[in-house]
Order: sequence, then structure tokens, then C-alpha cells
Amino acid sequence: MVDLATLEQAALTALQACTDEPALRAWNTRFFGKHGEVLQALKGVGAVPPDQRKSYGQEANRLKEDLLARYENALAEVRARTLEQSLQTDRLDITLPGRPAPRGRLHLSNQTLRQIYAIFADMGFQIYRSREIEDDLTNFELLNMPPHHPARDMWDTFYTTTPGVILRTHTSPGQIHVMRELFPRPIRVILPGMCYRYEQITARSEIMFHQVEGLVIGEKITMADLKGTITAFARRLFGPERQIRIRSSYFPFTEPSIEVDVDWPKDDPISGDISKGTGWLEIMGAGMVHPVVLRHGGYDPAKYSGFAFGMGPERIAMRKYGIDDIRQFWKNDLRFLSQF
Ligand code: PHE
Repeated sequence: MVDLATLEQAALTALQACTDEPALRAWNTRFFGKHGEVLQALKGVGAVPPDQRKSYGQEANRLKEDLLARYENALAEVRARTLEQSLQTDRLDITLPGRPAPRGRLHLSNQTLRQIYAIFADMGFQIYRSREIEDDLTNFELLNMPPHHPARDMWDTFYTTTPGVILRTHTSPGQIHVMRELFPRPIRVILPGMCYRYEQITARSEIMFHQVEGLVIGEKITMADLKGTITAFARRLFGPERQIRIRSSYFPFTEPSIEVDVDWPKDDPISGDISKGTGWLEIMGAGMVHPVVLRHGGYDPAKYSGFAFGMGPERIAMRKYGIDDIRQFWKNDLRFLSQF
């Protein structure tokens, strides 16, 4: 027969010594586990002489209930204390100001391209993409520049190790791709993208730059349509205070050909290197699509006519924002880029 008073005393002392949850659990196993001392004591009721059995049983049950209640209390207390502690030590101060994430922005070239897209979209143009890696055939020959043609000197480029594969010198080869894809439908598209030239880098010329090609083909398209389109475009892009000038020029793939300049007044202190003292900066070449080019695209020049242009968005941005050196565009200098 177990001495219940001794057992209770032992259990209480052991419980008081428990300072954390694992210790409490061990205590519980010791007294209330499968072979726990309290449970053993309860089971021992059968061995108690009959006259003491009732009081023994009652006392053992009271002891069990009492100890379990104390155990639950102790457990709740320890848990509350642990929580309180972690709230103190793992404290997260959510009132601290966050670290500002640096905000990116669109490169000035892309901003300008988007302005250009918006204007031409309003005039009903679709945007087409054309490859940057071209073949000699499309970049030159199909644009009416056979291998011996002296005009090729204007567009020296970068060659790959594969013969005849080059980086395009202008977006004009895109004209051929679009015509061959869309024939015999009328065409009204712009073709934006990067171009490459092997040339001397100056304040106004880079070896890589964007162009936006334009191509319109249909029946009875005339030079008046070209002039009207370009003038309307320039008015919207630059505003009424800028002047543009259209002068005759030469390109093998247009006939007649023109070039379009925007004014850069001579008294502007930064105009020197850019307008070469002329008061003008060239921003695009254009003209009526040459019959040979129409034919290479599948369009019969007896029935169809069209105009094309190729403009330089970096040059346009230079005039719009007063940038004095085109080399700034690819320098990756944040002091420059973050101004726009
Ligand atoms: N491709 C010409 C250039 O890069 C520009 C141009 C495009 C001229 C379309 C006429 C027609 O200089």
C-alpha cells in the first residue's frame, strides 16, 4: 500500500522544481505516465484492506485531481512566461522607416520611342519588329545597293564571322520583310529598333543608335502624304515653337529623297558640335519608295506607290531636352539618366 501523503509531498516538491515546459512534461510522465507513480497508487486500491479501501480510494482520487490541476496551471504559467519573453527579446519595431528601394525608370531612348509610337499610333500606324542581325542582301542589295554601289560607303558596319551576315546599318531592311509579309495589302507601319555603324564617334554620331523606320504603301500615295505625315508628326512631338526644314537628298532606295532637319539656333551655346554652325540638326531621311524596292517587296510599281522614312530618336531627344552629346545615351551614367 502506497503512502499517499508521502507521494503527494514528493510530487509537489518535484513540480515546484520545474522551470520550463520540458521539465513539466517529464514530471507528468513520472507521475501520470503509463507506469506513473500516481496511477500505480490508484491501481493499488485492490491490495488495500477492505475497511480502508474507501477512504484510500477517495484520497488517491483527490490527490490525482489536485496534482493534475496544479500541473495544468504550471504549464499555462510557463507558456505565458515564454511568450512574454519572446515578445520582449524578438521585438520587431514596425514603426521604423523602411529602407527606400531605388526606383528605376525607362531609359530616355525608350521614353522617346514611346512618344513616337503614340503619335504614329494615332495616325493609324502599326508597330512592326524587324531583326537586328541582317544579311547583306536585305540590308543593301534588295534596297537597290548592289555590292559595287558607292552608297554603301555611307553605311559601313560590323561583320560577323558568317559571310554575308551583318549588324543592320539602318532599319530600312525591315521594309522588305514587311512588304513580303503583307503583300498585297496596303501598308502603314513603323519599325523601331537598334542599328549599328562602324564610324567615327562624335557628339552627334554613335556606333549604335535607334531608328524608327516608317513605311506606307498603297495606291496613289504621293510626296504630299509624306510631307503631311512628317509635318504633323514634328508638330506634335516638338510643339509649335520648333521649326523643321525639308530639303532634297539622295538615298538609293527612295526616289525622290529628302532629309528633315530640326532647327538648333546658332546662338544656343551647345549648338556648336551638333549643328555644325548650320542652325539645323538632321533627324530623318525619307522619300518615295524606289520602284526597284517596291518590286523586291512584291508590289508592282505601276499600281502601287509609297513613302518611307527613317528617323533617329536619340537625335530627336537631344533637341527636345537640350542634350549636347549623343555619347551620353550609352555611357550608363546615372547622373545623366536620372534627369529624365
Ligand atoms: N535608312 C536611311 C538611313 O539610315 C534613312 C531612310 C529611311 C531614308 C527610309 C529614306 C527612307 O540613313
